[in-house]
Amino acid sequence: MKGIILAGGKGTRLYPITLGISKQLLPVYNKPMIYYPIATLMQLGIRDIILISAPGQIENFTSLLGNGSQWGLDIQYVVQPSPDGLAQALILAEDASGHLASSCLILGDNIFHSSTFTPKIVSDFEKTGGCLIAAYPVSDPERYGVISFEGDKPATIEEKPAKPKSNMAVTGLYFFDGTAASKARTLSPSDRGELEIIDLINLYMDNLELDVIRLGTGTAWLDTGTFESLIDASLYIQTLEKRQGNPIGCPSTAAYLNGRITEAELKKQLSTLSPDYFSILLD
Ligand code: TTP
Repeated sequence: MKGIILAGGKGTRLYPITLGISKQLLPVYNKPMIYYPIATLMQLGIRDIILISAPGQIENFTSLLGNGSQWGLDIQYVVQPSPDGLAQALILAEDASGHLASSCLILGDNIFHSSTFTPKIVSDFEKTGGCLIAAYPVSDPERYGVISFEGDKPATIEEKPAKPKSNMAVTGLYFFDGTAASKARTLSPSDRGELEIIDLINLYMDNLELDVIRLGTGTAWLDTGTFESLIDASLYIQTLEKRQGNPIGCPSTAAYLNGRITEAELKKQLSTLSPDYFSILLD
């Protein structure tokens, strides 16, 4: 399975900060935002990653992440010429890789903190195919894509509905089978000029090929698109890391836990960073 990280976009809600730098390179407490979705993909056991970003930004990501081999990853970079929508990621990823068998798309500004994500999710999904999305209960569903259910089955998905039919928001983590890019190519741009991920998911739902992981207690899903949510996310990470001593969203640690690097390599990697960075691990 390929991981696709969508790390472009305009970031208008964070202007003027994001006039000069990608949102996904901004700090969330002690790490660049992009570390968190990378660590989530690693938690799922995904190693092949396509990182999509805006023209002029790829160099910054490359100097931060390289080709990912230091963490046992293979990171390939793809430019999205303009922010034409989340569903375009599947098309760009297929064009870049020739063939996209199955993929896990994650938004570069979404932070998940959960023990739910294991490689079993990927192996189970590869047996069933279709589309699998993760939904999370929120108090303000009108700000998100909202999914409603009839019994256990997904019934409707609507983008930012004025009257949400449920409190379950569609998060920025999606699994697609190998038909996603060809399905995405059939979509027309929405009124805001974007190929909408909700429209792609609806195609799967129409074919009864949509499944949903309902995240809840035990999972934190943080969005970092506004000044306030960026600070909230930083405080959340700071509080948990200080209290528990466990790093969150650290690719080096994820690589160690996945058996991709040795303890000596982990210590070496962390020792080159700020002395405050996870000093607990270096004891
Ligand atoms: P959004 O939050 O929808 O958009 P944005 O990040 O550009 O922010 P704003 O609304 O403040 O202008 O995007 C969600 C994520 O997807 C974010 O990480 C940016 C990324 N994205 C792309 O990479 N390409 C795109 O075409 C779009 C629409 C978003």
